Amino acid sequence: MRLVLLGPPGAGKGTQASAIVEKYKIPHISTGDIFRANIKEGTALGKEAKSYMDKGLLVPDELVVSIVKDRLLKDDCTKGFLLDGFPRTVNQAESLDSELSKMGIELDRVININANAEILIERAVGRRICRECGATYHIKFNPPKVEGVCDKDGGELYQRDDDNESTVSTRINVYMEQTQPLIDYYGDKGLLLDVDGTLEISTVFELITEALDN
Ligand code: AP5
Ligand code: MG
Ligand code: ZN
Repeated sequence: MRLVLLGPPGAGKGTQASAIVEKYKIPHISTGDIFRANIKEGTALGKEAKSYMDKGLLVPDELVVSIVKDRLLKDDCTKGFLLDGFPRTVNQAESLDSELSKMGIELDRVININANAEILIERAVGRRICRECGATYHIKFNPPKVEGVCDKDGGELYQRDDDNESTVSTRINVYMEQTQPLIDYYGDKGLLLDVDGTLEISTVFELITEALDN
């Protein structure tokens, strides 16, 4: 299964991605996670990406596209993949199309998870992430058993640098201007699956898997 997860910041892409890749045994490719790993390792790519991410702006297309191209050529992608947070501009979507057609493959579905700005801000600002395994929590909607500690491995939970209210608002505006056009782009291709992201985490997952299994 070759899937794309589309949706504004905080809609629940990463949360649903973890469950989807577990069910369908496909790799989870999150461009945001790739950048954050590079920032942590202090690479040149990480330094450049951080200067955009901290402002809530998109990293330039040419940087993102080449990373995804390389990743899609890895062996584990032959059984499918889930792209989370890529593509994010029409230009990225066109590059992805041309890359996939060179590989002789096509996308199966584009899952569009949506929610309104008020919910998105509350979700992003309350999000906490494990330093060890990357598991995502929410202080109110999905709290860990012990505050500040990962249920799975006891790792310390931290807050992303771009998860403050003002940067989240910028990210939402950037999404509306640059990423929202992809809804029509994939809608016109008949690939779009719209899911109401305001529902409970488990309900959103059921809606997605029901549609994918049919
Ligand atoms: P990225 O990491 O992709 O961030 P994002 O798109 O802003 O999305 P988030 O990760 O914030 O939200 P999510 O939808 O994954 O929500 P989550 O499941 O965690 O990108 C970060 C930055 O990297 C970008 O701003 C850009 O600079 C750069 N970048 C990345 N890709 C790029 C690209 N292709 N091109 C250019 N630049 C790029 O959930 C959020 C919270 O809500 C969690 O706490 C969760 O527990 C909770 N939650 C989830 N679902 C529910 C629910 N149903 N009910 C209640 N709570 C819920
Ligand atoms: Mg995410
Ligand atoms: Zn953990």
